[in-house]
Amino acid sequence: MAKYPLEPFKIKMVESIKMLSREQRIHKIKQAKYNLFNIIAEDIFIDLLTDSGTSAMSDSQWAGIMRGDESYAGSRSYLHFEESIKSIFGYENVIPTHQGRAAEALLFSTILKPGDHVPSNIHFDTTEGNIRNNGGIPVNCVIDEGLDPASTFSFKGNVDINKLQKLVDEVGLDKIPIAMITITNNSGGGQPVSLENIKQVYKYWKKHNVPFFIDACRYAENAYFIKLREKGYDNISVKDIAKEIFAHANGATMSAKKDGLVNIGGFITMKDSELAKQMISRLIITEGFRTYGGMSGRDLEAVAIGLQEGLNEDYLKYRIEQTAYLGESLLEQGIPIVQPPGGHAIYLDARSILPNISQEYFPAQALSVSLYIEGGIRSAEIGGLMFAYIDEKTGKTIYPELDLVRLAIPRRVYTRSHLDFVVQTVKKVMDNRHMLKGLRITYQPKLLRHFTVELEEIS
Ligand SMILES: Cc1ncc(COP(=O)(O)O)c(C=O)c1O
Repeated sequence: MAKYPLEPFKIKMVESIKMLSREQRIHKIKQAKYNLFNIIAEDIFIDLLTDSGTSAMSDSQWAGIMRGDESYAGSRSYLHFEESIKSIFGYENVIPTHQGRAAEALLFSTILKPGDHVPSNIHFDTTEGNIRNNGGIPVNCVIDEGLDPASTFSFKGNVDINKLQKLVDEVGLDKIPIAMITITNNSGGGQPVSLENIKQVYKYWKKHNVPFFIDACRYAENAYFIKLREKGYDNISVKDIAKEIFAHANGATMSAKKDGLVNIGGFITMKDSELAKQMISRLIITEGFRTYGGMSGRDLEAVAIGLQEGLNEDYLKYRIEQTAYLGESLLEQGIPIVQPPGGHAIYLDARSILPNISQEYFPAQALSVSLYIEGGIRSAEIGGLMFAYIDEKTGKTIYPELDLVRLAIPRRVYTRSHLDFVVQTVKKVMDNRHMLKGLRITYQPKLLRHFTVELEEIS
């Protein structure tokens, strides 16, 4: 039987949750046009939509909130924020943003020209959206194992250098002004990247003079996986591993809503001071002055503390083992998931669970909807609804390699019995899977459609 870790904390404050009846849930999902983003949080029993901004903050962070300095320029809280980030990332320039996508918007609006390409292992949806919004083309170059849900390779988030070379040969270096890597690789199952791979990728881009940035949302979880799985790192502290990661890149964007253990906040940090200056000019127009960038002083303070707490090894052990518990318990019930369990979430392999629903009818969304109907659980579709797009040259719809349902685990929020209930619910859905129907789109916006898309069941 899967082993549940001991929590390295006790609970000081609680929030009630309640379960609607099955009839009410069916009514709510129809009303929400089969889009779980349209359901109000009160009508959810267990919310696994995202691990982003949903962490329980610690007593130290709440104390920091009270100490927040709300001065417009040069606040004490900004200095604490900057010092905390520099102690981990080590870059000269630190620019606060209200969350991760604002950091991405600054980066790509400063660096990209229409027609430029941006390689990564797999870009997250907001990263893709921001690249496309600035006329760029995101290119995913993850290793083949990263696209095979059944592969148990330890570092499925790694980049395939041959795929990078192929891209360079095809489009030329002058069309690649920046390269990235996402750690852990959220859109590919929350899988880690090895330090060896980060070093190789950095070396490759350095040779070609292309700046290399890390999407660092879950860098602490990635560093902990390196400690567990990569040869030579078991006696090195997670903080030192993190420092080594960032020593092999030119900069990083971060949504602090993940491993920063806060409810809002983000930043972009980099070596290049000239590039940082250009971004600061844009920041002042779009986010705010360079020492708060869209955040309040108290939020800067909570990030400064949360980033250090997120590196605590007792916490990381609990975090990674809690996620593994959910994954292993699902596997024990014969439910196909992306293997091995990732850092922040478990991903159900919707295409294997629902082979009777073809990609154009969104099997992962159908599965996600049924988890709500069955147990009031909210999950996220990471598949065709999120990533399919129309190829401008051929007019054909290009579907992603994987159709997944992500069960993201908020940090320090749910207990063992909550996770056991999730497993029972997935099992029930799995047992009745032949009853599930596909979905068709009745409304969609141009970019990031999954947030506001409307759907109906196919008959
Ligand atoms: C890998 C990755 N990059 C970027 C983002 C965007 O961050 P934010 O939601 O703070 O804008 C996310 C959010 O989930 C993410 O997982």
